[in-house]
Order: sequence, then structure tokens, then C-alpha cells
Amino acid sequence: METSRIQGKGDGLAHNATVLERPMSCVGFPKGRADFELKTNHVVLRWLAIGGLDDMQQTQLAGLLSETEQAKAARFHDASHRRTYVAAHALLRGMLAHVTGRDPRELQFTHGPNGKPEPVCPPGIARVCINLSHTHDLAAVAMTLDREVGVDIEWIARAAPFEVMERFFAPSERADVIAAPPSLRSMRFYDFWTMKEAYMKATGQGFSLDPVSFAVALTPACLQRQPSGQTIPTPYFFQRFSVSPGHVGAIALEGAEPVTVDAGAARLPWLGEFVAT
Ligand SMILES: CC(C)(COP(=O)(O)OP(=O)(O)OC[C@H]1O[C@@H](n2cnc3c(N)ncnc32)[C@H](O)[C@@H]1OP(=O)(O)O)[C@@H](O)C(=O)NCCC(=O)NCCS
Repeated sequence: METSRIQGKGDGLAHNATVLERPMSCVGFPKGRADFELKTNHVVLRWLAIGGLDDMQQTQLAGLLSETEQAKAARFHDASHRRTYVAAHALLRGMLAHVTGRDPRELQFTHGPNGKPEPVCPPGIARVCINLSHTHDLAAVAMTLDREVGVDIEWIARAAPFEVMERFFAPSERADVIAAPPSLRSMRFYDFWTMKEAYMKATGQGFSLDPVSFAVALTPACLQRQPSGQTIPTPYFFQRFSVSPGHVGAIALEGAEPVTVDAGAARLPWLGEFVAT
């Protein structure tokens, strides 16, 4: 059934990093030994399990954040929310620093009309598109070149809240979940949920898009019905993934061109290198 599921590579697979061609004036910061390169029609997906981080690693990651983000992190009352926020934004900044050659703390973002963050890329390098997601104990970041991307991860250890399907799922999606054997129903729910949310985040519309107004299909993973009112069809590429027994996710990319997906756990030593410099 799950033909498009991919598994992460796990920690410790150290490959030599290749970075984008960029003018020397942009190279001011060590890129670190990240294990990815960013190419056309390629998406890099990295995740970070937050529960496994000790206090020192947490502090190191916080050192990659901008002053504004550090201040925001300090305002979280709930320590687990704070840790998740810090890890997610440190991962995002570390990945961007690797491809831009910039200091992670100084990277700037603009925001789309519905709040989607977009990195301000230095002149002379291709547009880098990113999106992040955080959930119970996990952060994930997807990054592409010049193709809008959305990512969603969900914690699936709890039973799926089927009662919200009426509000969030299109009729075809609801029917698919209900028709699934009981043992697969919860998984089917999260497959739809993550694909739909990844799409809503790729378009940048987020909550402003009614999730019932469009439909996705699981096999093959695709946008089955465009949002109502959208006259020009825009194709999207989807890929679901499994991080651990407790977490699944999906990415959505604007455009029909096939994409290669480089997915795996982020290597902490690499992120730590930014702090050490
Ligand atoms: C922000 C939003 C896009 C996702 O929020 P969320 O559910 O808490 O999910 P995630 O953790 O996956 O993503 C949050 C991150 O998305 C990014 N984001 C914010 N607005 C965004 C937008 N309009 N588009 C894409 N990404 C956005 C931010 O980086 C944010 O992280 P931050 O708050 O730490 O800076 C939310 O506005 C939304 O619309 N969610 C859709 C919920 C929904 O209806 N789901 C139904 C699926 S069937």
C-alpha cells in the first residue's frame, strides 16, 4: 500500500558536503560538514529528535538563533515547547547557513501574506525555499531550490481524532479513511492529514485555505482536486515519509517535475560546529 514511504538514513552517515556556487563575497562563514547538497529538483529533509538532546546541546542549539528568536524562546512557559522551538529554528538556520555561507544568527526572513517565512537570499545565489514543522519531540525542515515547499510532521502514538474529519477532510478522503481496515484507519488518517497540511504550507496559505475545498489522494500521492475557485491548475509533487514508529510526515512541492528526496536525521556535531566558530 505505502509505496511512496521512505525511511530516513539515520545518524552518522557522513558525506562530504557540496555547496551552491556563490560569489566569494557571500562566503564569510564556515559551512560546516553538513551531509547534503542542494540541487535543482532535489529536496533535503532533515529531522531532529528533541528528547535525545542534553542541556548542553540545547544551549548550543539556542546559540544559532537570532536575538529575536532567543527572546521568543525565553518567553515560552512550557519547557518542552521551548526546546522544540529552539531545535526547529536552529536546524533551519544551520541548514540555511550551510548553503548560503552566512552566519546562522544573522540570516534574515521575510513573511508571505499568511505568515510563511522565506529566507532573504544573498544576491547571486538561487532562491532557497524552506519550511519547518514541529510536533511532539521532533522538528523537521525541508529545503529546495526555487520550488515552494511545505512539510508537516505528526506524532501518531495517540489515536487519530477521527471526529475532526468532517471539518478538515474532503468527502473522498473521509470515505477512504472509513473504508480502511480498522487496524490501518489511524495511519490512513495521518497520511491524509500530513499531505493536506504540507500542501497548505507549500502554497503559503496555511489556515486561510479551507482544507475541505481540495482533496489529495494517497496512491499515487497527488493533488486530486484543486481548491475550489482556483482556475489555473497548479501541479504539486508529494512524498510521505516515516521518521520513527511514533512520527510520520509529508512534503509537498510546487510543480510537476519529479524530485529526489534526501531524507534523514540531522547530525548534531555538524550543527554544533556553527556554535564553536
Ligand atoms: C502555521 C501553520 C501553517 C501551521 O502551523 P502548525 O499546525 O502549528 O504546524 P507546524 O509545526 O507544521 O508549522 C509551523 C511552522 O510553519 C511555518 N509557517 C508559518 N506560517 C506559515 C504559512 N502560512 N505557510 C507555511 N508555513 C508557515 C513557521 O515556520 C512555523 O514555525 P514557527 O511558528 O516556529 O515559526 C498554520 O497556520 C496552519 O494553517 N495550519 C493548518 C492546520 C490545518 O488546518 N490542518 C488541517 C490539515 S487536514
